[in-house]
Amino acid sequence: MARLGVNVDHVATVRQARGGKEPEPVAAAAIAEMAGADGIVIHLREDRRHIQDRDLRLLRDIVQTKLNLEMAATDEMARMAMDIKPHLVTLVPERREELTTEGGLDVEGQRQRLKEVIGILHRSGIAVSLFVDPQLEQIKAARRVEADCVELHTGRYANAVGLKEQDTEYEALAQAARATYKLEMVVSAGHGLNYRNVRRLRNITEIVEYNIGHSIIARAIFVGLEQAVREMKARLT
Ligand code: PXP
Repeated sequence: MARLGVNVDHVATVRQARGGKEPEPVAAAAIAEMAGADGIVIHLREDRRHIQDRDLRLLRDIVQTKLNLEMAATDEMARMAMDIKPHLVTLVPERREELTTEGGLDVEGQRQRLKEVIGILHRSGIAVSLFVDPQLEQIKAARRVEADCVELHTGRYANAVGLKEQDTEYEALAQAARATYKLEMVVSAGHGLNYRNVRRLRNITEIVEYNIGHSIIARAIFVGLEQAVREMKARLT
């Protein structure tokens, strides 16, 4: 059974819409864990549009499974991570204008910077994952900068129109997962996954963890968070 990391960013999105106190991401994390989540994922964005510094501190305290902090490879974020010490940091590209993370990191292009940040995090005892598109050269570059894990960006697969396009994107993910595994890095996947499109990926046995947010929080509005997490967990068996 693959592990499920539940991203609770959008609980914070609803809270920030009114600038108040509810709904509380910390409560969402506790419910998700009770429903079988294997980890909690949050993205602390530079513009703090959803998750706040306070959420990160509280979640580090209450998460019983594993806290995966997604962040840009900036000095500010590296300091934050060293202070809070999440179990895993996932480095992602970030642009202020984007609605959500739009693509993987250019690992080769930012090799020096990434190596530096990964070194800092490793010295603090924090494992590091890199969010990359399913391309062989990015995966090899991830190995060279000494990443522990690679999270394959599934956005293109999720957005594929028609079976032919989906087949192409699926194959790219399958090959990338194999390459990552052979290079002895842990393989996870995420972005744009939902209760339908995640099923096919389960055939890629190298992927041992899925990080899923939007579709779970969207379903939770109608069925409750506990059931939404249980249903996603069941898809991953
Ligand atoms: N993985 C990474 C690296 C992400 O940036 C995101 C979005 O924050 C996710 C997974 C979750 O994506 P979604 O909300 O589309 O499930």
